[in-house]
Amino acid sequence: MNGEWLDIGPLDQLPAMGARTLPVRGGDEIAIFRTANGQVYALVNKCPHKQGPLSQGIVHDTSVTCPLHNWRISLVSGKALGEDEGCVPTIPVKVDGGRMFLKRDAVMASVREAA
Ligand code: FES
Repeated sequence: MNGEWLDIGPLDQLPAMGARTLPVRGGDEIAIFRTANGQVYALVNKCPHKQGPLSQGIVHDTSVTCPLHNWRISLVSGKALGEDEGCVPTIPVKVDGGRMFLKRDAVMASVREAA
Protein backbone atom coordinates (compact mmCIF):
# COMPACT_ATOMS: atom_id res chain seq x y z
CA MET A 1 0.00 0.00 0.00
CA ASN A 2 1.51 3.34 -0.93
CA GLY A 3 1.38 6.47 1.17
CA GLU A 4 -1.54 8.00 -0.64
CA TRP A 5 -4.07 6.24 1.57
CA LEU A 6 -4.35 6.13 5.36
CA ASP A 7 -5.36 2.82 6.90
CA ILE A 8 -8.13 3.54 9.42
CA GLY A 9 -8.90 -0.01 10.49
CA PRO A 10 -11.00 -3.05 9.74
CA LEU A 11 -14.32 -2.70 7.97
CA ASP A 12 -15.98 -5.14 10.33
CA GLN A 13 -15.60 -2.60 13.18
CA LEU A 14 -18.14 -0.43 11.39
CA PRO A 15 -21.68 -1.85 11.52
CA ALA A 16 -24.06 -1.42 8.59
CA MET A 17 -26.02 1.86 8.99
CA GLY A 18 -23.52 2.88 11.65
CA ALA A 19 -20.77 5.46 11.96
CA ARG A 20 -17.51 5.99 13.76
CA THR A 21 -15.30 9.01 14.12
CA LEU A 22 -11.65 9.63 13.51
CA PRO A 23 -9.92 12.51 15.26
CA VAL A 24 -7.51 14.49 13.10
CA ARG A 25 -4.74 16.28 14.92
CA GLY A 26 -5.02 19.99 14.12
CA GLY A 27 -8.07 19.44 11.92
CA ASP A 28 -11.72 18.57 11.94
CA GLU A 29 -12.89 15.21 13.18
CA ILE A 30 -13.96 12.90 10.38
CA ALA A 31 -17.10 10.75 10.45
CA ILE A 32 -17.04 7.43 8.60
CA PHE A 33 -20.40 5.90 7.67
CA ARG A 34 -21.46 2.52 6.37
CA THR A 35 -24.72 2.20 4.51
CA ALA A 36 -27.15 -0.72 4.62
CA ASN A 37 -25.71 -2.07 1.37
CA GLY A 38 -22.15 -1.89 2.64
CA GLN A 39 -20.84 1.28 0.98
CA VAL A 40 -18.46 3.35 3.12
CA TYR A 41 -18.32 7.16 3.06
CA ALA A 42 -16.39 9.78 5.02
CA LEU A 43 -17.33 13.39 5.72
CA VAL A 44 -16.06 16.08 8.03
CA ASN A 45 -18.12 15.50 11.18
CA LYS A 46 -19.84 18.88 11.15
CA CYS A 47 -23.27 19.58 9.79
CA PRO A 48 -23.25 22.52 7.36
CA HIS A 49 -26.13 24.06 9.34
CA LYS A 50 -24.77 24.56 12.88
CA GLN A 51 -22.00 22.00 13.05
CA GLY A 52 -24.04 19.18 14.56
CA PRO A 53 -22.18 15.85 14.91
CA LEU A 54 -23.29 13.98 11.79
CA SER A 55 -21.76 10.75 13.14
CA GLN A 56 -24.63 10.67 15.67
CA GLY A 57 -27.28 10.95 12.97
CA ILE A 58 -29.35 8.22 11.37
CA VAL A 59 -28.18 6.77 8.05
CA HIS A 60 -30.82 6.21 5.35
CA ASP A 61 -29.65 4.93 1.99
CA THR A 62 -26.84 7.33 1.08
CA SER A 63 -27.75 10.20 3.39
CA VAL A 64 -27.52 10.96 7.09
CA THR A 65 -30.02 12.95 9.14
CA CYS A 66 -28.33 15.44 11.43
CA PRO A 67 -29.23 14.77 15.09
CA LEU A 68 -29.71 18.45 15.90
CA HIS A 69 -32.29 19.85 13.46
CA ASN A 70 -32.89 16.98 11.03
CA TRP A 71 -31.22 18.32 7.93
CA ARG A 72 -30.43 15.50 5.55
CA ILE A 73 -26.89 15.44 4.21
CA SER A 74 -25.76 13.38 1.23
CA LEU A 75 -22.96 10.98 2.14
CA VAL A 76 -21.89 11.02 -1.51
CA SER A 77 -21.58 14.79 -2.09
CA GLY A 78 -21.66 16.25 1.42
CA LYS A 79 -24.49 18.54 0.29
CA ALA A 80 -27.62 19.32 2.23
CA LEU A 81 -30.67 17.78 0.54
CA GLY A 82 -34.14 19.15 -0.03
CA GLU A 83 -34.78 22.81 0.73
CA ASP A 84 -31.64 23.26 2.79
CA GLU A 85 -28.36 24.60 1.46
CA GLY A 86 -24.83 23.92 2.56
CA CYS A 87 -22.06 21.47 2.03
CA VAL A 88 -19.53 19.65 4.15
CA PRO A 89 -16.23 18.32 2.76
CA THR A 90 -16.15 14.65 1.77
CA ILE A 91 -13.09 12.40 1.99
CA PRO A 92 -12.58 9.60 -0.56
CA VAL A 93 -12.66 6.14 1.00
CA LYS A 94 -11.66 2.77 -0.34
CA VAL A 95 -12.00 -0.69 1.11
CA ASP A 96 -9.27 -3.20 0.39
CA GLY A 97 -8.64 -6.56 1.99
CA GLY A 98 -11.31 -5.92 4.64
CA ARG A 99 -9.70 -2.65 5.75
CA MET A 100 -10.79 0.96 5.20
CA PHE A 101 -8.53 3.65 3.81
CA LEU A 102 -8.96 7.43 3.56
CA LYS A 103 -7.32 9.54 0.90
CA ARG A 104 -4.45 11.22 2.67
CA ASP A 105 -4.61 14.49 0.69
CA ALA A 106 -8.24 15.03 1.60
CA VAL A 107 -7.54 14.42 5.31
CA MET A 108 -4.66 16.92 5.15
CA ALA A 109 -6.93 19.44 3.39
CA SER A 110 -9.25 19.33 6.39
CA VAL A 111 -6.28 20.24 8.60
CA ARG A 112 -5.43 23.22 6.41
CA GLU A 113 -9.04 24.41 6.35
CA ALA A 114 -9.33 24.25 10.13
CA ALA A 115 -6.04 26.11 10.68
S1 FES B 1 -26.82 21.48 13.03
FE1 FES B 1 -27.40 19.93 11.65
S2 FES B 1 -29.42 20.41 11.15
FE2 FES B 1 -28.81 22.01 12.46
